[in-house]
Amino acid sequence: VILSPREAMALAIEEGRKGAGFVSPNPLVGCVILSRDFELLGKGHHARHGEAHAEINALNSVADKAHLEGAHVYVTLEPCAHEGRTGSCARHLATLPIASVVYGLEDPNPLVSGRGVEILRQAGITVEWFRDFQPELEELAEHFLLNQRLRRPFVALKVASSLDGLVALGDGSSQWITGEAARSHVQYLRGCYDAVVTGRGTLEKDNPRMNSRDQRFHSKRQRLVVLDPEGRVRFDGLRLLEVRSRGDIYWVTAPEASGEGNPGIAQLKIPLREGHFDISVLLSELMSAGLHSIFVEAGPFTASSFLAAGKVDRLFAFLAPKLVGRGLSWTSGLEIPSLEQALRLHSTRAQTFGEDLLVTGRLLWS
Ligand SMILES: NC(=O)c1ccc[n+]([C@@H]2O[C@H](COP(=O)([O-])OP(=O)(O)OC[C@H]3O[C@@H](n4cnc5c(N)ncnc54)[C@H](OP(=O)(O)O)[C@@H]3O)[C@@H](O)[C@H]2O)c1
Repeated sequence: VILSPREAMALAIEEGRKGAGFVSPNPLVGCVILSRDFELLGKGHHARHGEAHAEINALNSVADKAHLEGAHVYVTLEPCAHEGRTGSCARHLATLPIASVVYGLEDPNPLVSGRGVEILRQAGITVEWFRDFQPELEELAEHFLLNQRLRRPFVALKVASSLDGLVALGDGSSQWITGEAARSHVQYLRGCYDAVVTGRGTLEKDNPRMNSRDQRFHSKRQRLVVLDPEGRVRFDGLRLLEVRSRGDIYWVTAPEASGEGNPGIAQLKIPLREGHFDISVLLSELMSAGLHSIFVEAGPFTASSFLAAGKVDRLFAFLAPKLVGRGLSWTSGLEIPSLEQALRLHSTRAQTFGEDLLVTGRLLWS
């Protein structure tokens, strides 16, 4: 197959997505290699933190290395210059008889940005920045880019509501609003993040497992953060312990809450501000605990407190084609003083799952 540059970069993006959930804190990266005549020779992605980068996996997939003469490499992120755990990709590419490297995003780290390009150019390889698909390329690496820029975990918020924005009826009944296909996509999304975050209310009401039952993530640790200011939750007997060890639970309480009653479970003490956890402090503690991306799946209280703190980076709103009238809105704890100050999604996309609709987009905070 002959691919155009656009097709090659689109394929590299698709390839990069395959590492979702396993590369943190590295970025998702995909790579495609075309022959001198633009025939597809190989492709690869960064599959696991600490293992080979996308470029190396793509090169390894090329059966006949003689075809690398004059080849074109398409990679979603500037090849790395530094010798980390896995060696510099730019230096490795520089030893090959390839003609060009086309990259999607510059390395956001100002200390290394441009260095990979420099190494390749010095080796006589043509290097080009690919201007198209910037939104898709940025989305692919969004956890990493935000970690680098704001030094905190990337926060996604998932809600499932009726079309009129309600998560529960007046009588409190809430399961299930969305259908099977939407719920199974949520299983996938959970796996794409370092941890799921939920509130005491959801544990009490639904007793969920909150793990990813998508088979891609069977081997993955199912870390869960539970927000419980007064330290009231007793984990013994809850279903969430059926699918993870105690060591994978982060129990977040106010500093004055007693840590008793939950042996083997790490307590994270976070100060409260007007009855709510200080979300900035919480996020920096989670980052220090090695969680670089979180998937918030909780009730209106938690959802509203992350939104009000200006700390939701991506929203996944699953909308069931149902109208339920009076009930509990998932933003009930959010107050917006004027329409100009309404929270706004950018780069929105919609997708259907059975009869349900998923609207996703980025929230941007300076
Ligand atoms: N449709 C959906 O997507 C979805 C997802 C999950 C849950 N739900 C539904 O949501 C309902 C429960 O709503 P909810 O609002 O009570 O649940 P929740 O947000 O899961 O839990 C709220 C509780 O968690 C603690 N908490 C959460 N964030 C906090 C913060 N920033 N600061 C301090 N404490 C914090 C507080 O505990 P204390 O009360 O101890 O102070 C708070 O009352 C259930 O009906 C459930 O089925 C819907």
